[in-house]
Amino acid sequence: MAAESGFADVSIDRVRDFWNGRPCNIRHSTKEVGTREYFDEVERRKYFVEPHIPAFAEFQKWQGKRVLEIGCGLGTDTLNFARAGAEVTAVELSDESAGLARKRLELYGLSGRATIHVGNAEELPSILPAQSFDLVYSFGVIHHSPHPRRIVQHIRRYMTPDSELRLMVYSRISYKLFWMMKQEGIWDLSRIDELLARNSEAQSGCPVTYSYDDESAAALLDGCRILEMRKAHIFTWDIDAYVRHEYVKAPEWANVSDEELARLERELGWHLLIRARLG
Ligand SMILES: C[S@@+](CC[C@H](N)C(=O)[O-])C[C@H]1O[C@@H](n2cnc3c(N)ncnc32)[C@H](O)[C@@H]1O
Repeated sequence: MAAESGFADVSIDRVRDFWNGRPCNIRHSTKEVGTREYFDEVERRKYFVEPHIPAFAEFQKWQGKRVLEIGCGLGTDTLNFARAGAEVTAVELSDESAGLARKRLELYGLSGRATIHVGNAEELPSILPAQSFDLVYSFGVIHHSPHPRRIVQHIRRYMTPDSELRLMVYSRISYKLFWMMKQEGIWDLSRIDELLARNSEAQSGCPVTYSYDDESAAALLDGCRILEMRKAHIFTWDIDAYVRHEYVKAPEWANVSDEELARLERELGWHLLIRARLG
């Protein structure tokens, strides 16, 4: 839903239960959950299918800097900020995910560089005392919260004019949307929200999934100066093979060049990547 209304009545408990039931990317590895081999494979798979993430986060750039991450999930990006020498503070709604992210940092000897709080970022001031961060980073999170605008309003209080916000929210018109329409045989654009709500995640039943176009994303970030906003990410792998942890291009993408794919991703990518500062 572009405007913030459709999911405003969903309780945060439902959102928490959903992500506790299956933390994001939990099946990215077939190794024993919580082991180093497991986390290594989760990271390899995530950045293999979403190579735009390291490029967007620019982990090395934040060496010696303070990073606030909203919604760290299993902590793949958290770990990489910490590895690069940043001091990371993360807030994550799902205690299951936060527990695994903490364990992950411990396994890599990086607990000293990252603090993970369990809580609802819509209530950030009750979790984190006032302080400033060089980077506020949130990848694929706030569109899953009933009131994303509240999170953005809080985030601004943890930024100075020199801080940067790097945010990924789902883009409203994407190749993935057309794929969902084809899968369900629904070609009625007035049903976008329903389609996205059903199909946005690896598991069905995600209680909240907003999506944004340039205009609604700018409205979400009211009071911020947008430095860059662009679409990225089309999933081009054959899904049956992908589920088996094999990587074979889906037939429709087999003969598409990298250059052409990059062009299409700018037009129809599923991830709206935004860099912004205070306005
Ligand atoms: C799709 S996952 C993304 C996780 C991580 N950023 C990543 O890229 O792997 C969404 C995450 O947002 C968290 N989340 C949703 N609403 C939240 C809120 N209001 N406050 C904090 N975390 C939230 C969920 O618990 C879940 O871990």
